[in-house]
Amino acid sequence: MWGGRFAEGPSAIMREINASIPFDKALWREDIAGSRAHVAMLARQGIVSEADAAAIDKGLSQIAEEYEADGVPEDWDLEDIHMTVEARLTEIVGPVAGRLHTARSRNDQVATDFRMWVRSANRRAIAGIDAVLHALVARADEHADTIMPGFTHLQTAQPVTLGHHLLAYFEMLVRDRSRFSAALERMDECPLGSAALAGTGFDLDREMTAKALDFARPTRNSLDAVSDRDFALDYLMAASQCALHLSRLAEEFIIWASQPFGFVKLPDTLSTGSSIMPQKRNPDAAELVRGHAGRVIGCTTALMVTMKGLPLAYSKDMQDDKPPVFEAAGLMDLSLAAMAGMVADSGFDKVRMRKAAEAGHATATDLADWLVRQADIPFREAHHITGAAVKLADEKGVALDGLAIDDLKAIDSRIDERVFDALSVDASVAARASYGGTAPERVRQQVEDARKRLEKF
Ligand code: ARG
Repeated sequence: MWGGRFAEGPSAIMREINASIPFDKALWREDIAGSRAHVAMLARQGIVSEADAAAIDKGLSQIAEEYEADGVPEDWDLEDIHMTVEARLTEIVGPVAGRLHTARSRNDQVATDFRMWVRSANRRAIAGIDAVLHALVARADEHADTIMPGFTHLQTAQPVTLGHHLLAYFEMLVRDRSRFSAALERMDECPLGSAALAGTGFDLDREMTAKALDFARPTRNSLDAVSDRDFALDYLMAASQCALHLSRLAEEFIIWASQPFGFVKLPDTLSTGSSIMPQKRNPDAAELVRGHAGRVIGCTTALMVTMKGLPLAYSKDMQDDKPPVFEAAGLMDLSLAAMAGMVADSGFDKVRMRKAAEAGHATATDLADWLVRQADIPFREAHHITGAAVKLADEKGVALDGLAIDDLKAIDSRIDERVFDALSVDASVAARASYGGTAPERVRQQVEDARKRLEKF
């Protein structure tokens, strides 16, 4: 394609290091769509004849059919998807194929193709998040009053409701969703027509190609357009944060599914057995979601480091933009689908969860709060009195509400029988009815509110 002034062809090493076709063939749909939009515009502007444009367009649609049926051939000599398509077009329509590249460079071509590919990945991520969000809301509704221990430092802290816990992840994923949609908005500009870097002397209609490729408008600066990969980084950064959240959720399921916890039975469809230990049901899908987060974050780092030293405009380093994005997108698609299934189909063991909440003196704060409210004791002092009660309960091997009233009175005479109303896990969660709190009535409100938010997406 550029052999005019070269006496010798590239060495085998050059060919191999240069070839991006093994991975950028994934862009064939976008590449053909971009070329069709470009040639239609060239014809409308009188830059190529209608007849030539029609022949080129027909050839391109034939290539699309071929690739759909048989895949994209990988010839390293043709370097990348752009040259591969053009070479095939030349075979089909002859020298007229050479008119397609008028007023275009592979620099604006690849920027456009890749942007369209990343746009689709972004939309898939949003759809994947929506599936997880719907599952979280459904399960939160079902478990608005299911009591479990809430943890800090992974130590039993206070009883919470499972619905409340699940809705915490709803909030995280809604924020992720907004990052993906903000990324979509920012990338909604078409680089095509920026040519190599400086624009072109041909009288292009960039609005026309932008519209044909479903972009809001053309990019405003041709130097920026061919050298910008922010759209890919925006995707990767949104993906990293989302993967981080999915990993935390996966970790919860892994802990909950362990035998000492036994809070949840993972769906058969997302578990594996062991080849040696017949009793095992391993949370491999959750573990891989947790593992994938590391890879997604690694992909993000890879592209940031690739880009950080590049002067304007295009440099070949940028060809390395695709593998990390393709890898991360594949991992995100899988992770989102796995977590949607895990949330929707896991079986929660309410009895075990409640038992765990009743152990570990999770209602100690309720005793302290009761002392503040009923006996007007300053919280710090109430905390101290409660500490003594916890110590005694531990010594006797009972829960706080298993202590005799006389024992409690011996610790502090201001305690009376009414305290037992505050010490059950049910009373504890019901009491936490502050806005955003864990009380079942609040969780039901949060579910309702979450459903309204989902409807607006
Ligand atoms: N395969 C190249 C890439 O992905 C296409 C752009 C090549 N442009 C160039 N001037 N060599 O970045």
